[in-house]
Amino acid sequence: MKLQLGLLSTVLFLSSCASQSTPDRDIVSENFDFSAEQLKYAFTEIDSAKAHLSEKDIEKQVFAPRNIQPDGSLRLVASRDWCSGFFPGELWYMYERTGDDYWKEKAIEFTAPVEREKTNGGTHDMGFKVYCSFGNGYRLTGDSTYRDILLESAKTLTTRYKDKVGCIRSWDHNKDKWQCPVIIDNMMNLELLFWAAKESGDSTFRNIAENHALTTMKNHFRDDNSSYHVVDYDTITGEVLHKHTHQGYAHESAWSRGQAWGLYGYTMCYRETGREEFLDQAKKIADYIFSSPTLPEDKIPYWDYNAPNIPNEPRDASAAAVTACGLYELSMYDKENAAVHKANADKIIESLTDHYRAEPNGDRGFLLLHSVGSGNHDSEVDVPIIYADYYFLEALLKKDKLEKEGTAIL
Ligand code: GLY
Repeated sequence: MKLQLGLLSTVLFLSSCASQSTPDRDIVSENFDFSAEQLKYAFTEIDSAKAHLSEKDIEKQVFAPRNIQPDGSLRLVASRDWCSGFFPGELWYMYERTGDDYWKEKAIEFTAPVEREKTNGGTHDMGFKVYCSFGNGYRLTGDSTYRDILLESAKTLTTRYKDKVGCIRSWDHNKDKWQCPVIIDNMMNLELLFWAAKESGDSTFRNIAENHALTTMKNHFRDDNSSYHVVDYDTITGEVLHKHTHQGYAHESAWSRGQAWGLYGYTMCYRETGREEFLDQAKKIADYIFSSPTLPEDKIPYWDYNAPNIPNEPRDASAAAVTACGLYELSMYDKENAAVHKANADKIIESLTDHYRAEPNGDRGFLLLHSVGSGNHDSEVDVPIIYADYYFLEALLKKDKLEKEGTAIL
């Protein structure tokens, strides 16, 4: 297997050179040029949507795009929504790419409303909300008020850690069904804690993040290296009570975005800790994804690897974009298979660019079409969703940095 992968690496490396940014096709610049125009258009769409808000939405202080609704309208969300940090994050990525103060000012404007979350102990999605917005902002500006907000947010997130379980509790809803549900998505929120440990010198943040990753590694994965979405724990004994897949097709199926969160999550955990078991886990997840018989040629997965009517099932561009982010970074650590990971990520970027991009000055200003929020609940099916766009831009920045500087760490 290793030898085969080695040979394949060489072949793919040679073919991947063709899909790198070349004089005839600079796919990164092409996408950032498109995104600059599209995001300017998005601002006009946001303004129009704000002019027609319901009383309830005004009260909630909605401000950030999330998706296109079944009636074609733009859905804006408030800071409480788990997706509130992605649009500000995209604006920071535009600033990172261009260095243009126009984007910095817009990013500051859309980041500010997320501050309220720093004391919200009811959210496990603190990283998605605050690290994607303030985290990128702090990385790019060094603004100390952002640092304080991030540290307070990290502290709040640790209040959800359950010692007995060894995990941060995810959802508070469905209390009749689950005692202490932990979702694979939560791996992504650990990055905020690793950052806080480095920034504050307080190892509690790191210990919580590592324990969460280790417990998840033990209980979320099946023998074939696919993962459940939700593992529910007994809060008193710490024992596993249920293994479910809430947003995928079935409890025993492999929900596509869940596999992507795991891949990127464990790659990030390896970067932050150097623990080999995290790297091994990331490699196994990549292997699961790319040897899946249902993964299409263009490498954009169906919304669930086991969806019942493949090939007549919606794709999930968001899962692909998150996967590409994980793969660019994994290619730095898994040297033996570096070229394979890089080629797979490049193929995803090429497919998203050529076949999944939104209409310029259309589609309410989103960048990518064809994502699925929760196919199981018929919610956000085959629509543009903000996190696909955020991770698309992140993957493009990682690709560019990897090719120019040999590192995919932003
Ligand atoms: N809950 C995060 C997701 O839908 O991926």
